[in-house]
Amino acid sequence: MTVPSESGSTTSRTRVGPWLLMVGAVIMLSGLLFGYDQGVIAGALEGIQKSFNTSNTMTEIITSWVTLGALFGALVAGVLADRIGRKITIMLAAGLFTLGALLESLAPGTSVLVIGRLVVGFGVGVASVAAPLYAAEQAPSHLRGRFVSTYQLAITMGIFIAYLVDQALTNGSSWRLMLGVSAVPAVLLLIVIVPMPDTPRWLIKVNRRGDAEKALLKIQPDVDPKLELDDIETSARAEDENRATWSEVFSKSLRKPLMVGVGLAVFQQITGINAIIYYADKIFAQAGFSTPADQASATTWAIGGVNVLATFIAVAYVDRFGRRPLLFVGLVGMSVSLTTVGIAFKFMGDADTSGAGTGGPTTAGIVTLVALVVFIASFAFSLGPVVWTVINEIFPSRVRGRAVAIATAANWGAAWLVSQFFLTLIDSIGTSTTFWLFAAFAVVAYVWIWKKVPETKGRTLEEIELLWDAADPVQAQRDSGTL
Ligand code: BGC
Repeated sequence: MTVPSESGSTTSRTRVGPWLLMVGAVIMLSGLLFGYDQGVIAGALEGIQKSFNTSNTMTEIITSWVTLGALFGALVAGVLADRIGRKITIMLAAGLFTLGALLESLAPGTSVLVIGRLVVGFGVGVASVAAPLYAAEQAPSHLRGRFVSTYQLAITMGIFIAYLVDQALTNGSSWRLMLGVSAVPAVLLLIVIVPMPDTPRWLIKVNRRGDAEKALLKIQPDVDPKLELDDIETSARAEDENRATWSEVFSKSLRKPLMVGVGLAVFQQITGINAIIYYADKIFAQAGFSTPADQASATTWAIGGVNVLATFIAVAYVDRFGRRPLLFVGLVGMSVSLTTVGIAFKFMGDADTSGAGTGGPTTAGIVTLVALVVFIASFAFSLGPVVWTVINEIFPSRVRGRAVAIATAANWGAAWLVSQFFLTLIDSIGTSTTFWLFAAFAVVAYVWIWKKVPETKGRTLEEIELLWDAADPVQAQRDSGTL
C-alpha cells in the first residue's frame, strides 16, 4: 500500500466528522474484503474437494490463484488510480470482486471456479493499493499512520470473520455460500464509496480545482481550502516533475532500501504465514482433529482470534518499542513454534493430506495447536504489521509509489509460491521437514534483519532517506549510538 508524502497537508488537527468516518469505512471494508478472501478458503476446501474430487494440484490452484490475481491487480492499480481516479478504481475493484464471488459460488466445475478466484484476486489486488491510497490522501496528516494500521487490523478481522462463517456453515456443499458471502463487503464498499468525492490530490492533478475544493471541504470542513489546495498543488507538481523512472527505481543509489523492502516482503511470506492461514483446517485434520466442526473451531479461535488480538498489540507498541525489537522477538517465537510443529508431526507420522484425521486430537495434536497459537501471535505482533510499516517509510517520496508496488508484488509473488506448493512440499519432503524449512527461513530472516534493516522508529522520513548514504546503515546507527 502506498502512503503519499507528508507534504500536502497543512492542517494540524481536524475534527473527525461523518465524511472522514466514511473514509475510515472505505479502508476498513477493503481490509475486510482482503482478509475475508484470504481466510474463507480454509473452510471451503473440504467441500470443494468433495464436490469436484480435486487433485492436490487443483486444490493448490484453487487456493492460490487469488494471490496470483492480486499480484497483477496490485501492479496495474497505481496506473489505473492515476488515469481514472481513486474513487472509480475502487468502484471497479468492488465490482470485479462481486462478479468473481458470484462466479465462484455458482461454478459448475473447477474451470469457472478458478476463473472466479482469479477475478476476485484481481479485485483484491486493485483495492489493496487504491483504498489505502484513497484513505491516505483524504485523511489529515496526523491520521495517516492510523489508517495504515487500521488496514492491517481489518485484514486480520476479515480472516477471523471468514473463519466464523466457515464454522457456521461447515457441512456438505455450503462452500458455495462461504465464497458467495464474500460479495457482502464488496457491495458494502460500493455503497459507501458512491456518495464520496474523489481525493483533492487527484482532482488537482487532473486540473479540477473547483471539485477539489468541494471534496476537501466535505471531508475536512475546518481547513482553509486555499492554503491546503495551494500546498497540494505545489507538492503534486513537484512530484510530477520529479517522478522517478522505473530504471531509477532499480538504480544503485536505491538498491539498499529496495533490497530491504523486497527482502522483508518475501520473508514475511516464506516463513509460512499463509500456508497456515489457508490450510489451517487441513493441518488440524492431520493433527487429529477429526470432525470438520472441530477443525473449524480450532482454526477460528487459535488462528483467527489470536491473529486479531496480537495485531492490536503491534498497533499499540510499534512506535514505542521500535521495529527491530518487535521483529526479533516475533521471529524467535516463530522459529521455535515452527520447529515444535515439525517435531509434533514426527510423532504423528507424516499423515496424508486428504484431511482425514484419526480419532480425537492426540498429545502431539494439542502440542501442534499450542505451537500454532504461538506462531500466529508472534507473526501478528511482528512481521505482519511491521513489514508494511517499514516498507512504507524507507523510500524517498519521489520513488515511493513504484518502489512500494514492487515490494507489494514481491510479497504476493512469494505468497503465491508458498500456497501453490505447500501441499506438494508436504507430499514430497513430509510435513515435519516443510515446517522446519519455514523455521530455517525464520532464522535466516533474523540474521538478515540484524545485519541489513536499520531502525526507523522516531526518525523523520528525511532522516530515513539519509540513512542509506552510509555504506552499512545498521553499523552506522550502531556507531552513532542510535541503535
Ligand atoms: C500479510 C498477509 C497475511 C496477513 C495475516 C499480512 O501482513 O501480508 O499475507 O495473510 O498478514 O494476518
